[in-house]
Amino acid sequence: MTDPVIAPDEPSPPSSPIEQALALCEPPRRREDVDLAHGYLDLLGQRDPTGAHPGQRLMLSRALPLVYQRFWRPTGARLLMGLSGPDTAEEHRMALEMLSIEPADRVLDVGCGPGNFTRDFGAAAAEGWVVGVDASASMLETAVRESRDGNVAYVRGDAAALPFRDASFDAVCCFAALYLIEEPLRALAETVRVLAPGGRVALLASCSRGPLPASVGDAVVRRLSGVRVFGREDLTGALADAGMTGIEQRVAGFAQFVSARKPG
Ligand SMILES: C[S@@+](CC[C@H](N)C(=O)[O-])C[C@H]1O[C@@H](n2cnc3c(N)ncnc32)[C@H](O)[C@@H]1O
Repeated sequence: MTDPVIAPDEPSPPSSPIEQALALCEPPRRREDVDLAHGYLDLLGQRDPTGAHPGQRLMLSRALPLVYQRFWRPTGARLLMGLSGPDTAEEHRMALEMLSIEPADRVLDVGCGPGNFTRDFGAAAAEGWVVGVDASASMLETAVRESRDGNVAYVRGDAAALPFRDASFDAVCCFAALYLIEEPLRALAETVRVLAPGGRVALLASCSRGPLPASVGDAVVRRLSGVRVFGREDLTGALADAGMTGIEQRVAGFAQFVSARKPG
């Protein structure tokens, strides 16, 4: 009589990106205890970390996501970076280059809006997975609707208190969001905290130019719009203070692209 054939253990099905995002949460969260009703993981509930200025409130409107990707973002980028600055396609190329995403990487997109960059990261990290985090429900609803890769999860959370464990990601992007975030330097510290050793960060933010000190431009622009104007060394300096290396900066008009690496 032959030995009975023992079936090998069924391979466990690959967990969904939402489950992977949940597994990284600090404090730990269980699927049953979180709000997933809109296709993203809502970790804020009634809490709203965005500021009271008009530019910040606009990000929560239902109308902006409808025009954001096609009109608002390209026009805003042109105003910020000038006619000779990178266009949308070039910006996407720059983000991918600064982040050097490998296929199996874990990538975080902070202030992901409607997922316009997050989707690129999903394609680049085809064997890994990607999380987009934003505080705006309407932006995230658009991101979920337009999501095309099965390796991307969206989380409603606060950039200044990221809900993830230390060293969770290989690459973190924060494009066009730091200047709207109430506590940008806390958010920057959070991006460094969640980066794994050797991880890369890519930032796009405002940049003061001209004879006036950054603080003057910032006081005027922020009061009117809520958009913060960073000095040329504010972000590079904060990254250096946090121990990041290989810090590079490219200034285009009133914008700055900054990349850096966490030693390890
Ligand atoms: C202009 S959009 C940028 C979207 C995309 N990254 C891009 O480059 O086009 C800025 C986003 O930052 C988000 N945001 C502002 N404050 C935030 C905070 N404290 N936490 C998370 N997201 C925040 C807004 O909701 C908005 O969707």
